[in-house]
Amino acid sequence: MPQELRFDGQTVVITGAGGGLGKAYALFFGSRGANVVVNDLGSTSKGEGHSSKAADLVVEDIKKAGGNAVANYDSVEFGDRIIETAIKAFGSVHVLINNAGILRDVSFKNMKDADWDLIQLVHLKGAYKTTKAAWPVFRKQKFGRIINTASAAGLYGSFGQANYSAAKLGLVGFTETLAKEGAKYGVFANVIAPMAASRMTQTVLPEDLLSMLKPEWVVPLVAYLTHKDTEDTGGIYEAGAGFVSKLRWERAHGALFKTDESFTPASILARWNEIMDFESNPPQYPTGPNDFMGLLESARELPSNKQGDVPVDVKGKV
Ligand code: NAI
Repeated sequence: MPQELRFDGQTVVITGAGGGLGKAYALFFGSRGANVVVNDLGSTSKGEGHSSKAADLVVEDIKKAGGNAVANYDSVEFGDRIIETAIKAFGSVHVLINNAGILRDVSFKNMKDADWDLIQLVHLKGAYKTTKAAWPVFRKQKFGRIINTASAAGLYGSFGQANYSAAKLGLVGFTETLAKEGAKYGVFANVIAPMAASRMTQTVLPEDLLSMLKPEWVVPLVAYLTHKDTEDTGGIYEAGAGFVSKLRWERAHGALFKTDESFTPASILARWNEIMDFESNPPQYPTGPNDFMGLLESARELPSNKQGDVPVDVKGKV
C-alpha cells in the first residue's frame, strides 16, 4: 500500500457531509483525487428544516482547493437519488459513507413514537436506501467500500437515547451482513463508532474534551478502510481524539446442560459462575451464526441429547 493513500478516479458519496464528521471526510477525499458527492439535507441536529447551503459551502471549498465535487440536498430517506447524483455526475460510485444523522434525545419514559420513528428513518432506513441503490453498481464493478456510522450509544447504551441506540446498533448488524454478502464481489463494509466535536456533541461533552476531539482525527481510519488496497471487512471500530481500536464480540466459556428434566432454573443458578466465566476458561470470539453450530454438535454428544433431542426446527436454522 502506498504511503499517501489516494482516491484518484474514485467516486465517494458522503451523506450528511455539510458539517461535522461528514465535512471532514469530504474535504479529505476531495484533496486526495476523488470525485465527491456532498449530500446534506441542511437540517437542524433534531432533523428540522432543510437548506442547500451546508452542502454548497463544502462543494465550494473542495473546488477552490482544486478538487471535484457536486452537491446533493436530498434526505437520506431518498438515498437512491443521492446515488443517482453520483452516477449522473461521475458515472459510478466506489465508496459510500453513511454518515448523516440527527438526535431526538429524551428519556424513554417521555419518548414519543415520532422521536422513535424519525431516528430509525434517518439512521437505519437512510443507510439502507443509499446502500440498496449503490449495491448493484458495486457488485457489477466488483468493487465497493461502505462505511456505516454507529455510536458508543448503540454499543453500550446511553441515557436518553433509546431510539438512537437502537438505530445505531442496527447499523452494526446491517454492516455485518453486508460484509458477508459483499465479500465475494469485492464489496467491503465496516462500521465505526466515532467520537468528535460537532454540533451534535457540543452540548453533551465538556469543553476541554471537545478541544481534543477534532472530526479530522476520525478521517484516517475512514480513509484507510475505504482505500482500494484495504480488504478488511465486517469490522467494528471506535475512533476519536487519535485513538483507533477494533471491537469484537466475546462469548463466555459458558455451560452446556443436558436437555432433560435436570435442566431447570436451579441448574442455571448452580452453574451461573460458568455462564459468566470470561477468565478461567478461554472465551470464544464468534463471528457468525455458524459459530453456534459447534455448540450444537457438543450438545449432541451429551448422553441425554444423543437421540435427536435437539429440536428439529433448531437444527437446520441456527
Ligand atoms: P452533525 O450534526 O455535525 O452532522 C450531521 C449532518 O447530517 C448534518 O450536516 C445534517 O444536516 C445532516 N443530516 C441530518 N439529517 C439528514 C438527512 N435526513 N439527510 C441528509 N443529511 C442529513 O453531526 P456529526 O457529529 O458530524 O455526526 C455524524 C455522524 O456520526 C452521525 O451519524 C452521528 O450519529 C454519528 N456519531 C457522531 C458522534 C460524535 O461524537 N460527533 C458520536 C457517535 C456517532
